[in-house]
Amino acid sequence: MIFNSNKDTIENVKELSVPLIPLRDIVIFPHMVVPLFVGRDKSIKALELAMTQDKSVLLAAQKKAKTDDPAQDDIYKVGTLGNILQLLKLPDGSVKVLVEGKKRARIKEFLPSPECFIVKVDEVNEELDDTLETEALTRNLVKAFETYVKLNKKIPPEMIMSVSSMEDPARLADTISAHLVIKLQEKQAILELINVTHRLERLYGIIEGEIEILEVEQRIRQRVKKQMEKTQKEYYLSEQMKAIQKELGERDEFKGELQELEERIKNKKMSKEATKKAKQELKKLKLMAPMAAEATVVRNYLDWLLSLPWAEVTEEKKDINEAEKSLEKDHYGLKQVKERIVEHLAVHGLVEEMKGPILCLVGPPGVGKTSLAKSIAKATNRKFVRLSLGGVRDEAEIRGHRRTYIGSMPGKIIQSLKKAGANNPVFLLDEVDKMSTDFRGDPASALLEVLDPEQNHTFNDHYLDCDYDLSKVMFITTANSLQGIPYPLLDRMEIIRIAGYTEMEKVHIARRFLLPKQIKAHGLSDVNLEIPDALILAVIRRYTREAGVRNLEREIASICRKVAKEVLKRGKDIKIKISAKGLAKYLGVPKYRYGRMEEKDEIGVSTGLAWTETGGELLSIEVTVVPGKGKLTVTGKLGDVMKESAEAAFTYIRSRAEFLGIDKDFYQKVDIHIHVPEGAIPKDGPSAGIAMATAIASALMKVPVRKDIAMTGEITLRGKVLPIGGLKEKVLAAHRGMIPRVLVPKENEKDIKEIPATILKKVEISFVEHMDDVLKAALVLEKPEEIFKKVQEKDIYQKEGMPTPVPNNGIITH
Ligand SMILES: Nc1ncnc2c1ncn2[C@@H]1O[C@H](COP(=O)(O)OP(=O)(O)OP(=O)(O)O)[C@@H](O)[C@H]1O
Ligand SMILES: [Mg+2]
Repeated sequence: MIFNSNKDTIENVKELSVPLIPLRDIVIFPHMVVPLFVGRDKSIKALELAMTQDKSVLLAAQKKAKTDDPAQDDIYKVGTLGNILQLLKLPDGSVKVLVEGKKRARIKEFLPSPECFIVKVDEVNEELDDTLETEALTRNLVKAFETYVKLNKKIPPEMIMSVSSMEDPARLADTISAHLVIKLQEKQAILELINVTHRLERLYGIIEGEIEILEVEQRIRQRVKKQMEKTQKEYYLSEQMKAIQKELGERDEFKGELQELEERIKNKKMSKEATKKAKQELKKLKLMAPMAAEATVVRNYLDWLLSLPWAEVTEEKKDINEAEKSLEKDHYGLKQVKERIVEHLAVHGLVEEMKGPILCLVGPPGVGKTSLAKSIAKATNRKFVRLSLGGVRDEAEIRGHRRTYIGSMPGKIIQSLKKAGANNPVFLLDEVDKMSTDFRGDPASALLEVLDPEQNHTFNDHYLDCDYDLSKVMFITTANSLQGIPYPLLDRMEIIRIAGYTEMEKVHIARRFLLPKQIKAHGLSDVNLEIPDALILAVIRRYTREAGVRNLEREIASICRKVAKEVLKRGKDIKIKISAKGLAKYLGVPKYRYGRMEEKDEIGVSTGLAWTETGGELLSIEVTVVPGKGKLTVTGKLGDVMKESAEAAFTYIRSRAEFLGIDKDFYQKVDIHIHVPEGAIPKDGPSAGIAMATAIASALMKVPVRKDIAMTGEITLRGKVLPIGGLKEKVLAAHRGMIPRVLVPKENEKDIKEIPATILKKVEISFVEHMDDVLKAALVLEKPEEIFKKVQEKDIYQKEGMPTPVPNNGIITH
């Protein structure tokens, strides 16, 4: 059946009758070659019909793809006339067909046919206005399409080539339309545009829009990809870390540790500030890798905070009587010292807040300063900590280093408190006089803050970086001498002097304390060892020379050691009684010659008395006169003050030469050498003045000095004797040296009460006011009275019209 076309009214329309194939999801444009799978009966019939004729079909899209059996209205009115190029029947009855679009056509009418659609169509000729605008549009479209193809991976890139080589704008527009991935309705709309320029324009618009969408899509895709990569990487890494940590089994441990810390912070009573700090640090720690170096720093810090005694206290005993008893029990003698300490405790017992001065025990080594402080702790039921300040020269040792330093730690104050485990210990600051200052800051000023009751409730350690309350701590300091203590520190302390012990006191201490202590320490019993008092005295005299009892204790310990050896060898029950002879077996040859008194009276040798940090000492002063030109040499490691004192003594003797029977011009003819032996011990102070003058006078006069007299006193140019310090120690030293008589400045008479009566019985004290008295007493003169009578008659001061010396106004020197 051929429906021959007749000419239509419209010129560019040619009328035809062709079978119609409704297409579900595609719009076919002219010039397109498309394979189609045809399954619906009606369509297969249409194809068969076409095959019997000239193979022409109309290919028109359905409005809705889903409609299986479309009615006339379900089909768009504009389609494409196509040619069947190939047809293949498939085994399942469907047909694969290759068609080529030829020309647009509009359905005019559906012809009645039950088997398939047959339609009368008008072929549509395109309207092309060959203008510049069309040309420009074409070019733009090609460019836009290129971009589109690059962005849209679904279109093969060869399309760009074939499109750009097309000259016919209508064909170009259709080819592009065919390849666009857009909605069916839109494609249909393009198909229906007969005017080519309009079609180009519409297409251009659509492509631009699509490009924009594609670009956004691409951006999103890239972002998503990146995100994916990142999360993937993170996920991967964290999985890896988990695996590693699991392997090491530490994650859980760390969690446990954190929990424990949290618990400890919760339960520990700290200051508000410290609690806040601890919580902050814990938060930081949670965010750290458990093995990181910083984590260790934070852990250490928390550990310090948590192990300090913030609220922990020991309950103090405030019973003064008991404290007194306890001190008495541990220490022999020291009556005044104990009294002062008990007074101090009494004040503290009455006043809750300790704002009183700090106790400072001053005295030579081994007199029991440290052990007294321990006793105080015991008597008041406080913990005891000791911090030696000897050699501390860095402020940071007191106050700690800031946490920025690796390996930094709190200062010694905080360290000691941790050791004490309570916030109210007795805190002994040993050797305050041995601190030194250098460029690293002044430890004394840091210490000042520690000791000052006005400031020490907010003591700030650099490491802790939060305030700690030191006000409950009972500070006690010790020193060997007051000289090295900075004044502001000294100002805050109550000085208690411990001078040293007499021989008898030492014997008592040894018998009652040192011996039992050492016997116990060496695992012996009282039965094993017996030392009579006389032998303890011998040990004191021949094996020690000290103001305290430390060396005595050491010697006793060494006896105990040897006895312990014997006990092991010979059985537990042996008894050893030390005899005078046996002593050397236990302790070796005596270390000191007891009694330093010279063997006989000698010319140019006098005995002075010195005060040192280790107590009193006998000083043997030697003077030799040799021919020369009046040079004065002083040797024996003497300090400046002592040297000046020697010069003053020399000048005084020169002024007295005439009366003492010395050649008036002696100083032009001789050199004088003053020497104080035992050069290793540094000596200073003016108190050897009269002893030096005596030795010079003796050497020049060739008259011996009495060996049984020791002397101490400063000399002025006019021969006046000025008072000295440390009288008790000096007299004790004379006693140790078995010297029966001591010359002492008259102005020191008031200090006599400090000296034990037992000593005064053995050592006679003579007071002197003037050098003349000294010489009169100390030189072995045949008729001393005569000489000094002469001297007084022609007293040099009167003679030369000088004012008589002003009495000394009580400045104590030593
Ligand atoms: N009066 C005393 N009664 C009993 N024992 C004493 C007495 N004096 C000192 N001791 C004992 O002597 C020894 C030394 O005393 P300690 O260590 O306290 O001396 P120190 O004054 O602190 O000396 P340093 O200045 O060298 O520190 C201790 O074993 C102490 O118990
Ligand atoms: Mg000590």
